[in-house]
Parts: sequence; C-alpha cells; structure tokens
Amino acid sequence: MKIQPVRGTRDFYPDDMAFRNWLFERWRRASRRAGFVEVDGPVLEPLDLYTEKSGEEIVDQLYWLEDKGGRRLALRPEFTPTLARMFTARQAALPEPVRWFNISRCFRYERAQKGRLREFFQWNADVLGVADEIADAECIALAVDSLAETGLRPDDVEVRLSDRRLLGALVRHLGIADALVPQVFAVLDKRGKVPPEALEEMLTQAGLAPAQRDGLARILTWQGLADIEGHERATPEVACAIEGLERLLGYLEAYGVSEWCRFDIGIVRGLAYYTGPVWEVHDRKGEFRAVFGGGRYDRLLEDLGGKPMAACGFGCGDAVLGLLLQERGLKPAPDPAAEYFVASAGKANLLDVLAAVRHLRQRGLAAAFDPKGGSLKRQMKKAADAGARFVVIAGDAFAETRQVTLRDMGTGDQHDVALDDLGA
Ligand code: HAM
Repeated sequence: MKIQPVRGTRDFYPDDMAFRNWLFERWRRASRRAGFVEVDGPVLEPLDLYTEKSGEEIVDQLYWLEDKGGRRLALRPEFTPTLARMFTARQAALPEPVRWFNISRCFRYERAQKGRLREFFQWNADVLGVADEIADAECIALAVDSLAETGLRPDDVEVRLSDRRLLGALVRHLGIADALVPQVFAVLDKRGKVPPEALEEMLTQAGLAPAQRDGLARILTWQGLADIEGHERATPEVACAIEGLERLLGYLEAYGVSEWCRFDIGIVRGLAYYTGPVWEVHDRKGEFRAVFGGGRYDRLLEDLGGKPMAACGFGCGDAVLGLLLQERGLKPAPDPAAEYFVASAGKANLLDVLAAVRHLRQRGLAAAFDPKGGSLKRQMKKAADAGARFVVIAGDAFAETRQVTLRDMGTGDQHDVALDDLGA
C-alpha cells in the first residue's frame, strides 16, 4: 500500500530544505540585528490555551487530541499564546522590556491552497512591556528589514496598518452595540477573501441596520487619516486613536521605512486578542494571502493569569513568502553540498582520494567525493552536479608528492598545488 503524505503538509527535499535554511538564517539575522533573542516552546499545548482567547476562527482550525491520561491537547496553531504562557510563568524575574523571537512549526486545519497549509513555519517577534507605539514601530521596522534582506522592495510589498481602537470607535459611532464589535471585526477580516455580497450578508446576519452597513462602507473608502470626517474626529476615542496612529507613522518615518507602509482602515486582523495597532504585509499585486500579520495585544497576558502587560508583535509564514520570492525571481540557488570535490585520475585510487578528503575536512573545509569512483570525466560530472566550487584531482604523482591539481569550476582555471597548502 502506498501511503500519501497528510494533506497540507510538505516534504522538504534538499532544495526545499536549502531554501528553508536560507530563509530561517535571514529571519534569525534580522531578529538579532534588532536585539531580539530566540525562544521556543512545545508544539503540544493544553487545548484551553487557545479556546479562551484566540477567537472562534482559530479554534475551529485546531488540531486537537485527548492523550492517554484524558488531557485535551492541541498542536499549536500560532506561537503568541505559548509566548504569553511562558512569559507569565517567569514574569517577576524577566527584565523588561522582553524582546523575543521564535521560529515555530504550526498546525491549522485550513482548506489547503496556495500559501495556506495545514503545517507551516512561522517567524514571530514580540516586544513585551512597552505601551508606546515605539514597540509597534520596532516590530514593523524589523519586518521590513527582513523583507529587504530577501531582496524584496517597496514596490513588491507593503505594510498596511491601522488601529483596532480607531475602527472600534468609528463602528460604535455608527450606533453599533459594543457587544457586536468583535463580530463586525471578524466579518471585516474576510474583506477581499469573500465576494462583497457575502460580506454584506454576514453584516446583515450580525444584526447591522442598512444605515449602519452604508456607514461602514463609507468608512472603508477612506484612504488616509485626513479622510476622517470632522464629527467623527470630535469623538475622544477616535481622536485618541488618530493620535496614536500619527505617533506610529512618525516613528516609522524615523526608522526610514515609510515608503513601505500605508494606512489602511480595513485592516482589523482575524485573531480576537488584538487591542491597538494592527498591521499586515501584503504583496502589492494582491496575488497572495498576507505574508505578515501583527499587532498589539495588551490584555492577553493578564487574561492568561499574568500581571497586566503591554505587548505587541508579528507572525510571518514561510510558505507564502516562498511563493512570493519564487514569483519575483528572488529564490536563491541552493548552496553546493560541499565546496570541494576530490577526484582521482591515473594511478591514484580511492585511498588517495580519502587522504585528500581527510586533509581538507580536518582543515574545516567541506569536501565530497564519489564513492563509486570511475573515470575522471564521470567524477567531474558528479562534481558539477553537486555544485562544487573547486575540484581537487589526485593524479599519478599524488602518492609520492601529495601534489594535486586544483580546478576552479567557475573559471575553468587549474594549476598544481601541494595538498598541504590547501586550507592552510
Ligand atoms: P496570523 O495572521 O494568524 O497571526 O498568522 C501570521 C502569518 O502566518 C500569516 O500572515 C501567514 O504568513 C502565516 N500563516 C498563518 N496561517 C497559515 C497557514 N495555514 N499556512 C501558511 N501560512 C500561514 C498570528 O498567528 C499571530 N499569532 C501573529 C502575532 C505574533 N501577533 C502578535 N505576535
């Protein structure tokens, strides 16, 4: 019987694995450049960690199980609740602010499609303990820094940002009851993902009157903070949210990333725990799902039993970023398996090859060879297939002199050298 892989999971063959490592290296480098330190937690968590605070959508997507002791556990669909749990467990001892990053394997039972999988990797970076928008700006600047390092430019991707407090205040200003706001947010998060008629239907179902739906449609046409009308600005809650966003935009200017960022009133985010600025990174052509999603969640730590603590951060998926880089021709060629390839010619035999391989490896150089040997032509082909930069050829004189021929596979140049001089 031929067993198929689980739907929505991936096998990482060498080229896929090389890309994954390339990407993770860039995520780690960018995080460390910004002073974040790496953490990790378990893939298995108590089911309750998600059912409490993440919101209906993600709870519907949980992979969960009952273990042999009858405990209800879930495979993590995201890292934020784990981070909140870990932080609250050591809150008293941790020096604030905390700046943690993580690369986690996550699971969501979603309809598998382009860039949306059931098992994926997610890079997270979070700042805990800073209430000011400077922390949100720090996270956005880090996201932009990482995107720039992969070769993407502001005309490829943009950070769309808003503040939940702003839309919340505007929605309430339309006379929509407080209790309905989370539901309205959940519907608005579907904008662009479902047809407009379906969205309209969902808002009707949520109990919005026609005038309220029209009011919402008008708000969603706003392109900038300047479009917010005078009577709405007069509401203290709206005024306060605008001030916060202006501060955030000012910080982003100071980080030099403004050209990557745009205010978008329609960004609300699907997760229930966000409380302030929210943002997503999208490709400008609109071909893919969001590459990054982030925001402020100032109540989650307290809700999970910790002391009140301001917090914000982001998650970025590997699958969608991979598709985007591929589409833009920015996916790197895989690194060679080894920089050096040792071949034998003439009287030299496998033991001579091993002597050379051993010397190179002892000097810290990556050296491969073909255990099946064969003609020099065959071995040269193997070296080319493996992407080796140099071929070291042990020939007739090797056993006596330890002289080899060093061939640069890029230029085709070759010359004789003493093996002992290589890697010296
Ligand atoms: P999220 O928007 O659910 O946020 O996910 C963030 C990113 O993870 C998405 O933009 C996408 O790139 C990737 N992602 C999510 N689901 C999938 C999937 N099924 N397949 C492939 N990629 C996926 C969060 O998870 C928040 N916890 C992020 C956060 C951290 N907010 C604050 N700190």
